[in-house]
Amino acid sequence: MFGPADQQTWTAVDEYVSELLAPEDEALEQAVAGAVEAGLPAIQVSPPQGKLLALLARSIGARTALEFGTLGGYSTIWLGRALPGDGRLITLEAEPAYAEVARANLERAGLAEKVEIRVGAALESLPALEEEGAGPFDLVFIDADKANTPAYFAWSVERTRPGGLIVADNVIRGGALVDQADTDPAIVAQRRFHEMLAAEPRVEATTIQTVGGKGYDGFSIALVKG
Ligand code: SAH
Ligand code: DHB
Ligand code: MG
Repeated sequence: MFGPADQQTWTAVDEYVSELLAPEDEALEQAVAGAVEAGLPAIQVSPPQGKLLALLARSIGARTALEFGTLGGYSTIWLGRALPGDGRLITLEAEPAYAEVARANLERAGLAEKVEIRVGAALESLPALEEEGAGPFDLVFIDADKANTPAYFAWSVERTRPGGLIVADNVIRGGALVDQADTDPAIVAQRRFHEMLAAEPRVEATTIQTVGGKGYDGFSIALVKG
């Protein structure tokens, strides 16, 4: 068994993997720079995680995707690029100022046509999507306010095609997931989300713990069954 490494090592390995396998081009670099400049929190997925999202999308031939939590559009760029030319990505962001930064970043990345940003609390954007008959989606990425991850999953599982994927970020939070004494609503929600995954007959899911530049956290991946 390998014992735990430290944050410095996790960051160095992330940089190594990023350089070789998930290099950032100018648009991705500018997306991070633009977000930093505008004072957005630097909580976007890491380059290897962005690449994972892109590989997942491509491995299922995704054409339509839905993202909860745009921030500056960094994960949005990875996902948007993984969709074919006529693909569509809808991304939901509560903060108008963040959405403006994302709009500029997506424009620079040449994704303005493919990606639509909807501004507002995601739960309030969903009824309109519903009325418009949006979906079914091939891939959903849940990465907004963590307390609502269960609600976003419940909505998404109804609107993801068989063979599609629902991915959720930040489900481990340094191991808080299994600390029953931790009553932070964001953590309680991730436990609830796992119980939903376990009980939901329409999905097969797993959770993978991750370390890297962003510390110790994890992804859940749920396949909607045929
Ligand atoms: N997916 C992004 C990071 C998202 S960070 C990336 O990896 O690049 C989480 C985002 O969710 C923040 O931008 C935050 O403003 C947004 N958010 C928080 N509450 C929200 C809500 N209720 N509805 C939609 N977005 C929300
Ligand atoms: C944090 C990290 C995230 O990936 C996210 O989506 C929201 C918050 C954080 O580390 O605070
Ligand atoms: Mg996240």
